[in-house]
Amino acid sequence: MAILKIARMGHPVLAQIARPVEDPTALEIRNLVNDMVETMADANGAGLAAPQVHVPLRLVIFQAPGERGEPDLSEGEQFDHTAPLTCLINPEIMVMDPASEGGWEGCLSVPGLRGYVERPAHIRYRGLGLDGKLIERTARGFHARVVQHEVDHLDGRLYPSRMGDLSKLIFESEIHHLAAKKSP
Ligand code: NI
Repeated sequence: MAILKIARMGHPVLAQIARPVEDPTALEIRNLVNDMVETMADANGAGLAAPQVHVPLRLVIFQAPGERGEPDLSEGEQFDHTAPLTCLINPEIMVMDPASEGGWEGCLSVPGLRGYVERPAHIRYRGLGLDGKLIERTARGFHARVVQHEVDHLDGRLYPSRMGDLSKLIFESEIHHLAAKKSP
């Protein structure tokens, strides 16, 4: 296991279309994912795409822990808002509802910044796991956001290019001003 170097905005590997993984069960893929998990944990991220560690393959990892104070209990949608640590290979996203939702995003390739991004709030995604088996889930909330953010990396897109209002691209260290504005 190793902590990998993370490519930052401006590196060409982040702007290219990544290639499909031919054999998800290959040992080199498992080793890559193990290193990505260690790298993401070290950097305190919620998701990481292979191009971010200079490997232009269609592979992402992410996790969506439960959102505080938000019960996730409606029948049949029980797991939409959360996901355990997941490796998704050759992923595809289907938008279930085009209604979009705004949220603040950060990216390990754009360190120190946060941006407000509108994305479809309800998606379905599928891809292969490290065992080569199909993973197919619906996702809402942060879960839907992190998957769309990571899959964008495979198509050479970083979140600032999804932003409608660049005045909402700010330094992380200034985000407390937003909370201050909201309070009475
Ligand atoms: Ni990112």
